Amino acid sequence: MSTMGPDMVIAIDGPSGAGKSTIARALAEQLGLDWLDTGAMYRVVTLAALRENIDLDDGDKLAELVKTLVFEVDGSVVLNGEDVSTQIRSSQVDETVSIVAAHPQVRRELVERQRQWIKAHGGGVVEGRDIATVVFPEARVKVYLTAAEETRAHRRAQEDGVTVSEEALERVARRDRLDSGRKASPLVVPRDSTVIDTTSLTPPEVVTEILKILWPPERRSLFYRGCRVAARLLSKLLWRVQIEGSDNVPEVGPVILAPIHRSNLDFLLVSNATRRHLWYMAKDSLWKSRALGRLLDSLGAFPVKRGFADRDAFDLSRRVLEEGKVLILFPEGTRRSGSRVDELQEGAAYLALKTGACIVPVGIAGSEEAMPKGAHWFKLTKVYLYVAPPIHPQQVFRGRRGHLPRSAVSALNENLRVALQHSFEMAKSRLASPLSPDGS
Ligand code: DC
Repeated sequence: MSTMGPDMVIAIDGPSGAGKSTIARALAEQLGLDWLDTGAMYRVVTLAALRENIDLDDGDKLAELVKTLVFEVDGSVVLNGEDVSTQIRSSQVDETVSIVAAHPQVRRELVERQRQWIKAHGGGVVEGRDIATVVFPEARVKVYLTAAEETRAHRRAQEDGVTVSEEALERVARRDRLDSGRKASPLVVPRDSTVIDTTSLTPPEVVTEILKILWPPERRSLFYRGCRVAARLLSKLLWRVQIEGSDNVPEVGPVILAPIHRSNLDFLLVSNATRRHLWYMAKDSLWKSRALGRLLDSLGAFPVKRGFADRDAFDLSRRVLEEGKVLILFPEGTRRSGSRVDELQEGAAYLALKTGACIVPVGIAGSEEAMPKGAHWFKLTKVYLYVAPPIHPQQVFRGRRGHLPRSAVSALNENLRVALQHSFEMAKSRLASPLSPDGS
């Protein structure tokens, strides 16, 4: 099943100061989705009501007001053409927003706008108090973030640029009580949400936890794992393979591993770049032999008809990435010779822009010397792998709605070519003069 289809919603609920905004924003960026802060919507309504002196206990009047408001909460918060990003965080709004948010009439209006927002944006990361319970009960991932009360008060104070006080602590506790105690859509821990206590976690750690829900660790057979161990041992024994930068392969989520291609040995050698399970394409004629086909299946290969232009191969690759896996793709297409990285095929850039996967270039030095094109046997020379930092697509054009401009593909492809050339040169220079054990 695809995990990143159009209109994918990630719901993040939790009390104030649990880290929702920081996490939601980082997660959205990583997934190439937009981010919606529904709290900001309740704040905008509160600000408008205060400005127009509307009785905050009058739910019907407030709902009427919402209908007349034109506002956007995409990054900055704009109300009737005015940027109110600062005003909605004032202490006056802080103290009264829970009263406004408690009215079911107001909630009904805003929930409708939140659903429309998701339709218009083709999915997104949505944070609030009732997202998984009321707004998007069908969300693909549901997370409830929490943290110790004092930590939350500190974070809130930091956001507002003030020092934490007894009063701030009491304010957080009071708002929690109001949000959890109200009748309409109270803040509760949804039954099917994953609870993450962020008290002692860094934001990247929380993001990784959430990504693991979206993309659970893969299970592969004992046979596969045995083959990987054997590949590592062989690489070490036969070519004394050294690896630099394996931390550059993200621990979770879709990755296109894009190695240099100078030798048939590259398939085996590149597997040293990461411990994660790998997927790759192979000619479909290999599946004619049932035994070989079964072997290839268990090694993570999938059949391709006629090179990468094949539609099925593209769809399969895309599915592998949408499921958060690591795909090996040689951007040079076929085996080349020499030090230059010339024109690349556009498959890697295209897939990255369509799925949001990052591309990790891998320079492999020494494989051509070990077994060049045309050779029938290999030599016992040294090999060095230089794993470069991931290249993230700046924008993701997911689904049919997102038209993918040629210029975006060419630009990303050129970035990859430069990075691949650099990683190849780094690998070659390290092979010529290896790093000392202290890394200097
Ligand atoms: O997340 P925040 O502090 O900006 O939220 C402001 C208020 O809005 C808070 O009192 C809870 C309320 N709220 C809500 O009731 N439902 C949401 N989905 C989001 C926020």
